[in-house]
Amino acid sequence: MANVTFEQVTKRFGNYVAVNNLNLDIKDGEFLVFVGPSGCGKTTSLRLLAGLESITQGQICIGDRRVNELSPKDRDIAMVFQSYALYPHMSVYDNMAFSLQLQGKSQTEIKQRVHSATQQLGIEKLLHRKPKELSGGQRQRVAVGRAIVREPAVFLMDEPLSNLDAKLRVQARKEISKLHASLKTTFIYVTHDQVEAMTMGDRIAVMKDGILQQADTPSNLYNNPTNMFVAGFIGSPAMNFFAVERIEEEGKPYLKWGKELIDLKQYLPQFLVDTGDHPVTLGIRPENIYHPQYLPPNIKGFKIRAVVNLIEMMGSELVVYLETQDGVEFVARLDPRTKVRRGEPLDLLFDSQRIYLFDQNQQTIQVVFDEKFEKTL
Ligand SMILES: Nc1ncnc2c1ncn2[C@@H]1O[C@H](COP(=O)(O)OP(=O)(O)OP(=O)(O)O)[C@@H](O)[C@H]1O
Ligand SMILES: [Mg+2]
Repeated sequence: MANVTFEQVTKRFGNYVAVNNLNLDIKDGEFLVFVGPSGCGKTTSLRLLAGLESITQGQICIGDRRVNELSPKDRDIAMVFQSYALYPHMSVYDNMAFSLQLQGKSQTEIKQRVHSATQQLGIEKLLHRKPKELSGGQRQRVAVGRAIVREPAVFLMDEPLSNLDAKLRVQARKEISKLHASLKTTFIYVTHDQVEAMTMGDRIAVMKDGILQQADTPSNLYNNPTNMFVAGFIGSPAMNFFAVERIEEEGKPYLKWGKELIDLKQYLPQFLVDTGDHPVTLGIRPENIYHPQYLPPNIKGFKIRAVVNLIEMMGSELVVYLETQDGVEFVARLDPRTKVRRGEPLDLLFDSQRIYLFDQNQQTIQVVFDEKFEKTL
């Protein structure tokens, strides 16, 4: 078991900066997920930690050891790759035993560790098969098993579930979470899937263009995103964004949305925002938009009229795609009993206690809600 620290870590490939000044403390026993779009530097960060890439600048520590100069095998880590990288000519048993044999462990210990891992993963009956005789899900478990037997201080996993179909992925997700709970070892997990990140991570490090945007708990990322990128990346369907303007009239702040003037003070009594007129972006999640007929108590807000473009009945909710009079598209998750028809206008209520505002640099403008609301979060 060990904590992991990235200190001002930068990785350049030629002139290209793949990881840019990464600072991150991962606690002993934590399940940390790196998430972000393709090419944002997730795999590179993991490979720097594993010792498969050299660090251009900064340092990485595992426990209290600086590992920059250590070879991968001396770092006390085990990695599960997206491709699994099983040896095709070896049986499941030999695939799992191989690294222990290299370490010179006794046959008895190897047998005992492999059997314990296969039991944990439910693959005891597959020990004599070759990888090509296994299903995708079984191969994935062998790859995880091969990492477990090494009893490393840190597990690294790079998109280990991406080759599985959707149903199997959900099951394997739960299995890896259970495995983490039973092993209590530090897990560092890479995925581009925000649902996977939200459901598995104790904390999630959101990356974009090699830069760490925010490292936080799932609920903090969802409720207090640091910028528009994180706000839009976490949550499905994604947060809606609208270009609005912050204006002041007679000393009172308003949001100007098309022809509408939304009185900020009225809806957000303690709304802290700088003065002056300038464009801002308003964000609201699809679940914070309501049809007035199915409005939960204590929700206040402002109404926006929009035309229904598309309806998706999900059973537990109605996902409705709409368009405002200015032609801006957005999506709302409504009560499944709501009567809506394509092409018809709807007056929807936007929960003004759950709106986000972003400045011209796409950074979140801090909004302080009244205390009553904060307590219900
Ligand atoms: N060996 C390399 N040489 C040059 N550029 C590289 C090398 N490895 C990665 N890169 C570049 O660094 C950037 C980050 O790559 P990385 O593999 O870390 O992305 P990722 O976040 O894991 O993406 P994905 O979700 O597609 O796996 C990419 O733009 C990639 O093209
Ligand atoms: Mg990758």
